[in-house]
Amino acid sequence: MIITKSAREIELMKEAGRVVGLVFKTLEEKIHAGMTTLEIDEIVEKTMLENGCKPEEKGYYGYPASACVSVNDTLIHGIPSSKIILREGDIVSVDIVANYKGYNADACRTFKVGTITERADRLMRVTKEAFFEALKYVKVGNHIGDISHAVQEYVEKHGYNVTREFTGHGIGKSMHEDPSIPNYGKAGTGPEIKPYTALCIEPMVLEGRKDTRILGDGWTVKAKDGKLTCHYENTVIVYEDHYEIITMYEGEK
Ligand code: MF3
Ligand code: CO
Repeated sequence: MIITKSAREIELMKEAGRVVGLVFKTLEEKIHAGMTTLEIDEIVEKTMLENGCKPEEKGYYGYPASACVSVNDTLIHGIPSSKIILREGDIVSVDIVANYKGYNADACRTFKVGTITERADRLMRVTKEAFFEALKYVKVGNHIGDISHAVQEYVEKHGYNVTREFTGHGIGKSMHEDPSIPNYGKAGTGPEIKPYTALCIEPMVLEGRKDTRILGDGWTVKAKDGKLTCHYENTVIVYEDHYEIITMYEGEK
């Protein structure tokens, strides 16, 4: 069931989204070679708590940290660790969910560690562009499949692959609500997009083959072929005749 949101609920989600943006702004300045992924987690947790939000991922189905921090061939759900040290040229995605007074906002950014290769840079560009391509179809009366199809087509056109196992989703009081928003699919299929709903659109892109494996920790999802991966996500509110991205900070590109 897709849950529509009241004006008050949207305001609370927007405050959660503002804090998510603030976390990314902070990380943009702080991520550097030599730092550990656990240090990133600490910044995420501290920034959220100082701004009246709870890191919703912590304890979610037993997840042990406040952020998912995934380096290079780790697609998603990387568990922050003092043993994972960022190196010049890495790309690191940070996927976070802030809860403000019971309402959530969810987003992910992939950051560069120092100077990266053109190969990694292109993957980052295409992943982000796939999100904005999909956004063109966020319109009342369109279907979720229009979003899915747009992501898949854009990504594959550039020679990359989308994951089949993990999807975007609705969001609200819960981090994951209906509808499920796959990164692949057929235009015109799936639920209709309704006003006053909140959607997390999140291209998860693999440079190589689409296949992934989960590590023994039960969370970390890696590209089976060990090639690079990238993830970009925002929470988007749908209104009658427009949409609003609530998880970008002012001036963010
Ligand atoms: N934030 C992720 C998403 O985009 C989910 C994180 S799973 C958790 O849907 F266990 F870390 F919370
Ligand atoms: Co999400």
